[in-house]
Amino acid sequence: MRESGVTLVTVGVFSWALLEPHEGMHDFGWLDRVLDDLAGAGVDVDLATATASPPPWLSRRYPETLPVTAAGTRRWPGGRQAWCPSSPVFRDKALSLVETMAGRYAGHPALAMWHVSNELGCHNAHCYCDVSASAFRRWLADRYGDLETLNEAWGTAFWSQRYSDWEQILPPRAAPTFPNPTQQLDFRRFSSDELLAHLRAETEVLHRLTPEVPVTTNFMAMKFARNMDYWGWAASVDLVSNDHYLDAADPESHIELAFSADLTRGLAAGRPWLLMEHSTSAVNWQPRNLAKTPGQMRRNSLAHVARGSDGAMFFQWRASAAGAEKFHSGMLPHAGPDTRVHREVRQLGADLAALAAVRGSEVEPAQVALLFDWQAWWATELDSHPSTDVTYLDQVLVYYRALWRAGVRVDLARPEADLSGYRLVIVPSLYLVPDAALESIRGYAAAGGHLLVTYFSGIVDGDDHIRLGGYPGAFADLLGVRVEEFAPLAAGQQVTLDDAGRATVWTEDLALAGASAVRSYTDGPVPGRAAVTRHAVGGGLRWYVATRLDEDGTARLLHRVCAEAGVGALVEAPAGLEAVRRRGAGGTSFLFLINHTDSDAVVPGTGTDLLTGVAHSGTVPVPAGGVVVLSEPEG
Ligand code: GAL
Repeated sequence: MRESGVTLVTVGVFSWALLEPHEGMHDFGWLDRVLDDLAGAGVDVDLATATASPPPWLSRRYPETLPVTAAGTRRWPGGRQAWCPSSPVFRDKALSLVETMAGRYAGHPALAMWHVSNELGCHNAHCYCDVSASAFRRWLADRYGDLETLNEAWGTAFWSQRYSDWEQILPPRAAPTFPNPTQQLDFRRFSSDELLAHLRAETEVLHRLTPEVPVTTNFMAMKFARNMDYWGWAASVDLVSNDHYLDAADPESHIELAFSADLTRGLAAGRPWLLMEHSTSAVNWQPRNLAKTPGQMRRNSLAHVARGSDGAMFFQWRASAAGAEKFHSGMLPHAGPDTRVHREVRQLGADLAALAAVRGSEVEPAQVALLFDWQAWWATELDSHPSTDVTYLDQVLVYYRALWRAGVRVDLARPEADLSGYRLVIVPSLYLVPDAALESIRGYAAAGGHLLVTYFSGIVDGDDHIRLGGYPGAFADLLGVRVEEFAPLAAGQQVTLDDAGRATVWTEDLALAGASAVRSYTDGPVPGRAAVTRHAVGGGLRWYVATRLDEDGTARLLHRVCAEAGVGALVEAPAGLEAVRRRGAGGTSFLFLINHTDSDAVVPGTGTDLLTGVAHSGTVPVPAGGVVVLSEPEG
């Protein structure tokens, strides 16, 4: 590890069964040795509380702690994370282990950070058991106060669902047809809150026993996980950390990586964060697990650092010989240290050491905010909607990718955030808009901001009730449009626009009410109707995109929208060259240039490359697949 430049190791994540082989009987000998060895080698430890997976004795003695599916099937132990987030028995046993661990390792020289559980909610985000049902009712009573308010919020006059007693209320278990949508939405909110409560309960023990040690838990702010509302979690950790894994089927997975890193930075409120896990090469849990190409892991790691991470950690140090993840790459592969992957690990260790000055600096704020909201994600994809082709992350990523390709940096922001510093705010398919979010977006536009809203936005309030008066309800007046009826497209259907562009998924029977048409359909269900509108009010512009434009059409539209908002690329660079700047205290700045293409590139820039020590003045060559980190001259 020392030779690889490893400075921090996460230890003990899934080791409850080793640490407490029988209830109340502990064996810490092996962990003592590991921590002592690491301390002796000068390597810090991010010590897991080990509660992520209960040991076999726990589920055997307390089977009620096992999670239950919507159909009522109790999940068996044998995998990992088989616990009900609302179980008081599980909570009690977990906290008792945390208390013992924190007491034992308080003051240990290796202990640098606590790692609560692991990827909370990765496999057990929703439990439908009777214990969860009671907890759900308590959560609802807290939210609504009385049954009448709940009945109103859930719209229970429909389909004979009116509740006359709290005990009648259940989680949205598998029903003959669509369960009540607000019940589903509230259950998702409740489930996220239950896991957050677990995080807070463990953290409270750790803060009490080791007040000087920061506490984190690894978030999954990425496309593979959507069940936790991390906007509500971020304030509960001392340091935001995130896990990210590439989708091997995505030819532009480096863009989705950038999105995940930007989202994590948003959660960290712009402060540095930590990449807790990624992979040196292939994972084992996708259908086809592609190995990373030479240099790809280095680009991945340094792209996270460029976007605010103060390090790059991996699952796992040594590729396992046994168990479910034995085909997952590691820093030390099955074939041993004399391997390409391990040589790249050592190179990365040297690179990160050379970037020591970057630590603590912050990514320069972007000119564009892209609004992102987990609750809107859940609500958008509830059942019985106009089209299953309207999915949330799709729209978010369509706009994120187009801006990434244009070299325009964005910050991911929650809809309720202070948006006043941005030149342009993009609102992709924000179906659910509670009043506070609406006020925030309205306020931004009223102050002369440039706003771009896309289809299926502003449709419902925080209770999933339609905002009446025509679509896009919350935003119709703001955008100067009025939609009487949606006109979703058939599977695979394409429509043509008057600039010869193509669109798919969605169209709307849209009437102009102040806005002017920028593009219109020439065919499809609503020929002649506007597909893209522009509404100039005060000093600002409000754009509405009522269809899913193709890649080229999105790029052309954003080119114009950005130009009118005075938004530009950070660096004039060829396509596929990623540029991000971090600024440190005392006027230091670091320009990261990452070349994701097979061609050498030259971009404007001045400063010393921290990775090579070479000074550049005016232009910087960035080799194919390579990375340059310029320490820029001050002032
Ligand atoms: C994460 C997890 C790790 C490992 C990894 C595999 O979900 O935290 O323990 O399973 O993924 O990619």
